[in-house]
Amino acid sequence: MKEVTILGLGYIGLPTAAMFASHGTKVRGVDVNESICNTINEGKIHIEEPYLEQIVKQSVLSGMLNASTKVEECENYIIAVPTPITKDKKADLSYVISAAESIFPVLKKDSLVILESTVSPKCTDQVLVPILEKSGLEAGKDFYVAHCPERVLPGQIIHELEHNNRIIGGFTEESAIRARELYSIFVKGEMYITDSITAELCKLMENTYRDVNIALANELAVICENLGLNAWEVVSYANKHPRVNIHQPGPGVGGHCLAVDPWFVVEAAPMIARIIQLSRKTNDSMPEYVAKKIADIVPEESKIVILGCTYKPNVDDMRESPIIELIDILKSKYEVEIVDPFIEQYNKNIYEASNNADLVVLGVNHRHFKTINFDVLSKVVDRKILFDTRNFFSREKVIESGFRYILLGDGNTI
Ligand SMILES: NC(=O)c1ccc[n+]([C@@H]2O[C@H](COP(=O)([O-])OP(=O)(O)OC[C@H]3O[C@@H](n4cnc5c(N)ncnc54)[C@H](O)[C@@H]3O)[C@@H](O)[C@H]2O)c1
Repeated sequence: MKEVTILGLGYIGLPTAAMFASHGTKVRGVDVNESICNTINEGKIHIEEPYLEQIVKQSVLSGMLNASTKVEECENYIIAVPTPITKDKKADLSYVISAAESIFPVLKKDSLVILESTVSPKCTDQVLVPILEKSGLEAGKDFYVAHCPERVLPGQIIHELEHNNRIIGGFTEESAIRARELYSIFVKGEMYITDSITAELCKLMENTYRDVNIALANELAVICENLGLNAWEVVSYANKHPRVNIHQPGPGVGGHCLAVDPWFVVEAAPMIARIIQLSRKTNDSMPEYVAKKIADIVPEESKIVILGCTYKPNVDDMRESPIIELIDILKSKYEVEIVDPFIEQYNKNIYEASNNADLVVLGVNHRHFKTINFDVLSKVVDRKILFDTRNFFSREKVIESGFRYILLGDGNTI
């Protein structure tokens, strides 16, 4: 029976562990956080992801998955630890380094180490490999190393782990082939083999592509507000062109991928990656832009209800959320009430939270907000103003219930 040790049991590591375990591989999950290990060993999960709890529970019950804080000898290792950015927008590789440091003392001949964490170019070869070689073994000869970045979409992780195509970058070709063999246990998508640095840049550019395109949409939103036009209409008509796909504007870009990964490219080529850097700054400026608009709508000390604070809809993840940044800006001048069905402390009744509010701001388009009854809401809100930053609500319904409707990117509603 194949065995794999997965370091980092978060949004990526735990579903990956569950997929291997439910496909007949003995999995040892390792996390530095003991309470996460305890939760998993009880067959429970600490993150929100459809279908995951069921698979984890079955895998733990069948003895195919267990979690521990300790790394032991194993034939395969997968590293799925965080790779955030530092305050000065550089890749923080400290978690990858400490994961590698915990593997090398138990690394044995012919083992395979796969780095799944998104990393800056050359990290696999220049950071990971030298640490693993402290074992006295030589990479590519005595053991194998590959970088296999993850592309899954939270909310659809289980399906995408199985069906997405993967890019596998080997330290050597044999390393990549070994990694492909391992993933073929559950992956049904195509697996393309390349070198580790190409795989690293490939992952970074996938997210950079999206970030740059969102920046373009955000710039368009500001242009339209200045010209008295509706950016959402411009986008929808422009996208009728067979080769155009302008993205959606919004209050900013969050998450640990799009808001982070482009900086890794900037770090690798600071004088050249100008469009990438400007796009990051454009998207980072959106919470401040939205806050300025709010200042034009309601006076200081008003009560503002913010609907949604995660970094994207229908997930419980607040990392790098632009709405959290917006809230931080607003807090000093306004009374801010947050409602988010995915976050325990903010899972409140919308109508109660909106009592005597002056402004309701849609920050995140969670599916739960589709069922808001604006007739009921308009009865509890004092100054009936709704600011939709996502083009999510039916303008007609909102207006019919007596609200003033303001849409980000629509110069007609300002
Ligand atoms: N979440 C996503 O949607 C997504 C998608 C694609 C790529 N990625 C990348 O995958 C990587 C992991 O992201 P995530 O969202 O799963 O992070 P996460 O924060 O959800 O989980 C990481 C886990 O690693 C643990 N950890 C930290 N240091 C450790 C160590 N030395 N040994 C063992 N465990 C350790 C943490 O306690 C945590 O539980 C990141 O590089 C991220 O950029 C994430």
